[in-house]
Amino acid sequence: MRIAIYPGSFDPVHLGHLDLIQRGEKLVDKLVVAVLHNPDKRAAFSVAERMEMLREMTKDMPKIEVDSFDGLLVDYARKKKAQFIVRGVRAFSDFEFEFQMALMNRKLAPELETVFLMPKEKYSAVSSKLVREIGHFGGDLHELLPESLLDRVVTGLRKQ
Ligand SMILES: Nc1ncnc2c1ncn2[C@@H]1O[C@H](COP(=O)(O)OP(=O)(O)OP(=O)(O)O)[C@@H](O)[C@H]1O
Ligand SMILES: [Mg+2]
Repeated sequence: MRIAIYPGSFDPVHLGHLDLIQRGEKLVDKLVVAVLHNPDKRAAFSVAERMEMLREMTKDMPKIEVDSFDGLLVDYARKKKAQFIVRGVRAFSDFEFEFQMALMNRKLAPELETVFLMPKEKYSAVSSKLVREIGHFGGDLHELLPESLLDRVVTGLRKQ
C-alpha cells in the first residue's frame, strides 16, 4: 500500500491545497492530510476546526484521511507507515525552505521520499495568509475557497 502524508498548517485550507490533494491522491493508495499542531504559532482556526474543514472538503474522496500531529514529521510518517511526503511549490519563494526541509527529513529518515507537486497556475499565488488577510478585511474569498467552506471561513475570520 502506497501511503503519503501531506502535512501543513491548513489555517484555513484553500483551493491551492485542494489542487495539491487532487494531484497527490492519484499517486497513492492513501493520502493522509495532516494538520500540524504548532503551539508556538498563533492560529486563526483551532486544529479541530481545520480538520473539520478538511473533512468537509474531501468527504467524497475515499483515499483521503484527515489527521493531526505534533512533533517531528518523520516520526509521524513512520507511525502512519508512509513512504512519501507530499509538499507544494508555488514559486521560487517556496523553494529554499522546502528544499532545506526535504534534505533535513531525508537525513532523519532516508527511507522517506519527499514529492513536490505544482498547482494549477491560477492557484500559484494562493496562501492561507492571503485568505486570512482578505477575510479579516471583509474582501471576496470566492476564488480562493471551496464554496462549501466560504461562510464558515468568512465568519471565523471576521471575529479575529
Ligand atoms: N497555492 C498552493 N499551491 C501549491 N502548494 C501550496 C499552495 N498553498 C500551500 N501549498 C503547500 O502546501 C503545504 C502546506 O502549506 P501551509 O499549510 O503552510 O499553507 P500556506 O497556504 O502556505 O499557509 P500560510 O500562508 O499560513 O503559510 C506546503 O507545502 C505549501 O507549499
Ligand atoms: Mg506556508
